[in-house]
Amino acid sequence: MADDHEITPWEVSNTFQEAQYEKIAKEFGAKIIDEGLREEIKYLAGEVHRFIQYDIFFAHRDLDQLLDGYKKGRKFYLYTGRGPSGKMHLGHLIPFMFTKWLQDRFDVDLIIQITDDEKYIFRDTSEADLKKYTQNNILDILSLGFKPEKTHVMIDSDNSNLLYNYGIRVAKHITASTVKSVFGLKDSDNIGKFFFTSIQSVPAFIVSAITGHNVPCLIPYAIDQDPHFKISRDILPKLGYEKPASIISKFIPSLKGSGKMSSSDETSGIYLDDDNKTIKRKLMKYAFSGGRDTMEEQRRLGANPDIDFAFNTYRMLEPDMTKVSKIYEEYRSGHILSGEMKMLAYEKITEFLETLNSRRDAVLKNMDDYRFNPERFL
Ligand code: TRP
Repeated sequence: MADDHEITPWEVSNTFQEAQYEKIAKEFGAKIIDEGLREEIKYLAGEVHRFIQYDIFFAHRDLDQLLDGYKKGRKFYLYTGRGPSGKMHLGHLIPFMFTKWLQDRFDVDLIIQITDDEKYIFRDTSEADLKKYTQNNILDILSLGFKPEKTHVMIDSDNSNLLYNYGIRVAKHITASTVKSVFGLKDSDNIGKFFFTSIQSVPAFIVSAITGHNVPCLIPYAIDQDPHFKISRDILPKLGYEKPASIISKFIPSLKGSGKMSSSDETSGIYLDDDNKTIKRKLMKYAFSGGRDTMEEQRRLGANPDIDFAFNTYRMLEPDMTKVSKIYEEYRSGHILSGEMKMLAYEKITEFLETLNSRRDAVLKNMDDYRFNPERFL
């Protein structure tokens, strides 16, 4: 990794710490979600999603403007995505859970870009594996319960015609030196990597391109994707489109502690296809704990729930915030022990995964209904 690039879309240095998020967001030029914006969201959406209240979605670009427009009757659409580089774990679903909430609350269309081309360019995954991950990842994402009428899954390799034709318009305005400085790419990197960001920009204006009038776009993403959209925001006005707005999240801490949950290390996360026994074993054996070394100490001094994987996972999956505060207090004060906290998380996780599994067959049967098709926007 280039020394001055702590976060790029493909790598996050493992020294990256919680305290650096605000600094990085500001360096990137994004704004922190403040009280005023939260109130605005509450007014328009009826509630502030817990991920915002927990500061997981913590920064934005032009979200205030986008909501102003919405108030005046300008509908926007949502755009997010996933690079199918492997099996999905819980952390991967967090942005999608949040996106679903936005879609439901604002009743808007959503494009989900599946960048199999990106993973082909950046990784050594075989084409057979890429195909498999693509299908499974889409199924995992859709089993969160997205509405087929308003959800458009764009697999890049299936939409190459459109992505190429619009991608070159973006590419024409991006220099190699920009890509090098924004992503930390080097002369020795393959040229596909230099071009790829153009492809990730296309869904940020595709609805405007299809319909012939400007439709605002809001992109939820984890902060490592910000360099792409910083470029989109520079280029799109040159093509006659509006800058996309964004809402930006932190990484979900991995099972073993800080940093990003990686797809390459089995013990780094809880996978959606882990069975109950595996989940329990992973939690008990690997989950980073904010508890004390001995029961006596834990009772006396209490835990630090903020850095505790089990607590954080429980909190993500439990919509009742009053319940979460109660558990927080009990764990912090030593009434709950680490093992008990892990069991609470275990129950939440297995319940959540059961719900996803119960929807998979229906989603699989109706997969075609979600397929991206320009005509669905006309
Ligand atoms: N590049 C992203 C990844 O590797 C996938 C992606 C494409 C994406 N378009 C996006 C993510 C828009 C967030 C928002 O996972």
